[in-house]
Amino acid sequence: MPRNTVLIIDYGSQVTQLIARRVREAGVYSEIHPFDTDIAKIKALSPAAIILSGGPASVGEAHAPELNTALLELQVPILGICYGMQLLAQTLKGTLATSTTRKYGPAELTATTSDCPLWQGLPKDRPLRVWMSHGDRVLAVPEGFEVIGKTETLDIAAMADVKRKIYAVQFHPEVHHTEEGHRILQNFLFAICNMTADWTMSNFVNEEIARLKAEVGERHVVCALSGGIDSTVVAVLLHKAIGHRLHCIFVDNGLLRAGEAQNVTEYLGKHFDLNLIHVQASQRFLSRLADVEDPEKKRKIIGHTFIEIFDEEAKKLPKVDFLAQGTLYPDVIESVSSRGPSAVIKSHHNVGGLPETMQLKLIEPLRELFKDEVRKVGQELGLPEQIIWRQPFPGPGLAIRVLGKVSENRLEILRNADRIVQEEMRTSGYDRKVWQGFAVLLPLRTVGVMGDDRTYEHVIALRVVDSVDAMTADWSRLPYDLVARISSRIINEVKGVNRVVYDVSSKPPSTIEWE
Ligand code: XMP
Repeated sequence: MPRNTVLIIDYGSQVTQLIARRVREAGVYSEIHPFDTDIAKIKALSPAAIILSGGPASVGEAHAPELNTALLELQVPILGICYGMQLLAQTLKGTLATSTTRKYGPAELTATTSDCPLWQGLPKDRPLRVWMSHGDRVLAVPEGFEVIGKTETLDIAAMADVKRKIYAVQFHPEVHHTEEGHRILQNFLFAICNMTADWTMSNFVNEEIARLKAEVGERHVVCALSGGIDSTVVAVLLHKAIGHRLHCIFVDNGLLRAGEAQNVTEYLGKHFDLNLIHVQASQRFLSRLADVEDPEKKRKIIGHTFIEIFDEEAKKLPKVDFLAQGTLYPDVIESVSSRGPSAVIKSHHNVGGLPETMQLKLIEPLRELFKDEVRKVGQELGLPEQIIWRQPFPGPGLAIRVLGKVSENRLEILRNADRIVQEEMRTSGYDRKVWQGFAVLLPLRTVGVMGDDRTYEHVIALRVVDSVDAMTADWSRLPYDLVARISSRIINEVKGVNRVVYDVSSKPPSTIEWE
């Protein structure tokens, strides 16, 4: 069954992805495409509605992105947000006042019509607090439009051509700070576009399994299983689609957290009868890492060794045609905002080289999904909470959290300290509130006292951060009591540690990991 698709045209706003997520949360599939996307590509998507995003430019300035008027000819409902509203006003011959300064922050929106479908169900007795970020403003609406909302400083904060179903708002309904923003977006989708909410994760699971069956046919697929949510969901989906023609390779590199290798493989083996190849390669990794201190060298050695092992194991399989990967939607959006430096920062985290050397076709079952949707798919598939809520964990594992030289002994100290961090974060409920929390073993020793004795032992740094996408992060303001508990447990229970420090650096200029 073809599903509704909302096309989001990206003009470079930092929050374009939020529009897509809010639309999907409302149960409607959405895709983001750059403002200069070819109209033939857009027609092929057969969008049921279009949302024009905000953007940093000022309409009319040199090189400012323009509205492709072919979009208007598609005759589907349109919602313009911020820059999107100004583009509509300009293209349809309203009047704009440009400005070089921008107004950021809250404003009070008052509806100026009582029966506008965009405002359906909103409180009528008071203005709404909405979030603004704009320089230009609309002075006169284009022909066929009426003003539907104003604020204390803007006479035209929202406008509509009800007949043509073109709506525009100067504020950002997609951001959390806008009161009733989700309802406004839902009104656009359901009251104005008459869509049905057909984007659910249970539909996704059924459709994707059928699609994978058709794509793979009788052939074989290989998949690297890391134990994280993305690769586990990929494996389970494919397993449901093609059973034993999926071959999962789990490489135990000796750099995982306490109990992790066992948890993942046991769980999958027990519940899903996966074709799972468990490669015990700790010694190979550790011997190659001996005496290596440079973080980049560590990453390279681990990456190469992983590929080598994966290659060796894949050669033992029947003829394989596909390599399955857990690529997510934010990695594939060709949006204006992701053409910037953030795209470059990410690339160093990926283990490159696999598909080229092995000449496999890529299969990426999650490339349409945001992370929160992957978690919901995990729930649909019945995965346990522990896998669904597992925090991000770097590919090079604990090797980049044991600063300096990596040895069995130092890994053991870190693993014991980290286990306590994970336990305490879970019991206090903070593991779901923060982006990531972990222990780091520093390459130095400090003096302490224990009983009557002087000690000269290791230092553990506690790193806990809040973030939305790991591109920026701030250190988490954990309650002191929790920090105190973690610290005293580590010092009392982990042999070889006599000091714990808390990392209070944000990213940038620091990074989340220490190496
Ligand atoms: P940084 O340290 O760059 O980390 O602020 C950002 C996020 O990425 C994770 N990370 C990695 N993930 N391979 C990965 O798969 C890597 O080499 C790697 N290095 C960092 C880190 O845990 C954080 O969530």
